[in-house]
Amino acid sequence: MQVPLLDLKQQHAALRDELSAALVRVLDSQQFIMGEDVRLLEAELARYTRARYAVGCGSGSDALLLALLALDVREGSEVVTTPFTFFATAGAVVRAGARPVFVDIEPRTYNLDASKLDEIITGRTRAVIPVHLYGQMAELDGMLGVARDRGVRVIEDAAQAIGAEDAEGRSAGAVGDAGCFSFYPTKNLGAAGEAGLVTTNDEETAERLRRLRVHGGATEYHHDEVGFNSRLDTFQAAVLRVKLPHLDAWSDARRERAAVYTRLLDEAGLADVVTPPFVSEGARHIFHQYVVRVPEARRDALLEHLKAHGVGTKVYYPVPLHLQPCFADLGYKEGDFPESERAARSTLALPMFPELTGEQQEYVVETLRHFFL
Ligand SMILES: Cc1ncc(COP(=O)(O)O)c(C=O)c1O
Repeated sequence: MQVPLLDLKQQHAALRDELSAALVRVLDSQQFIMGEDVRLLEAELARYTRARYAVGCGSGSDALLLALLALDVREGSEVVTTPFTFFATAGAVVRAGARPVFVDIEPRTYNLDASKLDEIITGRTRAVIPVHLYGQMAELDGMLGVARDRGVRVIEDAAQAIGAEDAEGRSAGAVGDAGCFSFYPTKNLGAAGEAGLVTTNDEETAERLRRLRVHGGATEYHHDEVGFNSRLDTFQAAVLRVKLPHLDAWSDARRERAAVYTRLLDEAGLADVVTPPFVSEGARHIFHQYVVRVPEARRDALLEHLKAHGVGTKVYYPVPLHLQPCFADLGYKEGDFPESERAARSTLALPMFPELTGEQQEYVVETLRHFFL
C-alpha cells in the first residue's frame, strides 16, 4: 500500500469545476491586482479568524515581515522567538533589520516556553513571535502578560494554525497584536500558489499593513514610508474563497484522523512512540501535521523503514534555526537550546490529510509496529 504524507489531488477533484469557474471569472474581469475577490476574501477571513481586520499579502513569509514593520520592528530591535519552526519566522526578523533572539521550546508541546520570556526580554526587545506549531495554539496567557508588562508586541505565527482555538475559545491570529497566515498549497487552507494574510484588531496597524504592502503609500505615487510589493493575487483569492467554506470540515476530518492514529498507536502498545501532546485538551488543534516523537537513536532508521514501505513521512524541522549557517553571526552553538535540538532529532510526521482512509491509517501504524517489534 502507498500512503502519501499529503494528497492534494482528491480535494482538487471534488472542487475542480468550481475552481475553474472562479479562475475564468477573474480572467474575464481582468482585475488581476486587488480585484473584488481579494476584498471579499479579506472580509471572509476576518470573520473566520474573528480578528477585526485581515490584510492579504503575497505569502506567509511576507505576512511576518509586514507585521514586524507595521509594529515598528526596525534596525537594532530584538525579536524573541523559537528556534524550532520553519525558517521564515526568524528570516522575517532579519529582513526587518532586527535580531532574532531564540528561546527554547516547551518539550511537551514543541511551542515556545513562555516561562523563559521574562528573563530574555531586554530594553531592545520589540516583539515576541510565538509559533502555533503543527496547528496547535501556543499557550499565550503567560506570554501576553509578560509582553504587555514589558511593552513588547506579540505577533502570532499562525501559518500552520488557521481555525485553531485555545482552551478559552480564542482564535489563532486574533489574540496578539497581529497574526500571520500562510496559504502555501500544503496548508489546511491552501492556495494554488503563494498567498498570505495578516490579521489584527487594531485599525491603525491594519491601515499601516495596507500601506506597507503597496510600497508604503496609501495614495498612488505618494509614499509615507518604504514598504514593498506584496499583494494577495486575485487568482489566489478566488481559489481560497472556493475552499474556505470547506475548511472547518477538512480540519475536523484531520482531527478525527489524529484521534484514530492516537487510538491505534495506544492499542499497538508502542511505548517508544509518543503521540502528539496537547497544550490543553479543551483546545481546537487543527492537525496541520501529526507529529510523533520516537527514540533519537532510531528515528532516521524509522524514516527509512516508513519510506521503504510506502508511507510518506518528513521531519519538521531537522535543523533548529540557531544552528543554521546563515545565523552563525548570532553566536549560538549546539547545546544552547537542548529541547529544540532533541525535538529535531526525535520527531517525524505521519501522513495527514482529510481524505486519509481508516485502512491507510491502520497500515501506517502496522508499519510502525513492525519496526519496533
Ligand atoms: C510556521 C511557518 N511560518 C511561516 C511560514 C511561511 O509561509 P509561506 O511559505 O507562505 O511564505 C510557514 C509556511 O511555509 C510556516 O509553516
